[in-house]
Amino acid sequence: MSAAGEDEAADFDGLARAYRWLEYATFGPILERCRFEHLPSLRDRRRALILGDGDGRFTAQLMAEAPALEADCVDASAGMLGLLKQRAPRARVQRADIRRLTPAGVGYDLVATHFFLDCLTQEETRALIARVAPRLAPGALWVVSEFAVPERGALRPTARALIAALYRAFRLLTGLRVDRVPDYASALSALGFRPMAVRARLWGLLRSELWSASRAT
Ligand SMILES: C[S@@+](CC[C@H](N)C(=O)[O-])C[C@H]1O[C@@H](n2cnc3c(N)ncnc32)[C@H](O)[C@@H]1O
Repeated sequence: MSAAGEDEAADFDGLARAYRWLEYATFGPILERCRFEHLPSLRDRRRALILGDGDGRFTAQLMAEAPALEADCVDASAGMLGLLKQRAPRARVQRADIRRLTPAGVGYDLVATHFFLDCLTQEETRALIARVAPRLAPGALWVVSEFAVPERGALRPTARALIAALYRAFRLLTGLRVDRVPDYASALSALGFRPMAVRARLWGLLRSELWSASRAT
């Protein structure tokens, strides 16, 4: 059980080494496919801000495919950042609670949040996007992977139950206090982002989304 206090970030340190294997044991390769879904559209990116990147599998793959890219990676877990640095030695890492972070850099043309926004409340998500948006270059992309309850269909109750079970497990293991996936799409749209590409998997339980900071004309 994590010792995370009332307003501390969830503590993923104890999970860091096992995280990848737990993921493969429960979901097989499918979360990895979500993270990597939009990589072909990211190869021309030059400056990335990667939030809650965990053990660095996405960053390592991104930097391999976009060799000119500089990456600033922020995570609250020292254990996760240690693994990230092993996988992606060129990445700059910062240990911080992203709920209180205003990125130091400017001109990012890519933000990545894979299975991270689900660690934030609706208000924390809105506030984060509002803090990050002014730091972005025109035409910046924001790539998101997330769990979702499908909008319709017989699988809605199953998806709800599965997501609730995942939240219970993470609460036990990391002290995470959030209990629902925030509506990040509304928050992104409200700040002028528009969806460029969406891929749903497992009948809508998983989404890989690519958003653009360019305003619709
Ligand atoms: C569910 S894991 C996802 C990791 C990775 N992005 C992936 O695709 O699997 C959430 C990550 O976000 C980090 N995290 C959670 N809340 C955070 C916060 N408030 N500030 C910074 N990092 C946080 C955790 O340490 C963990 O590495």
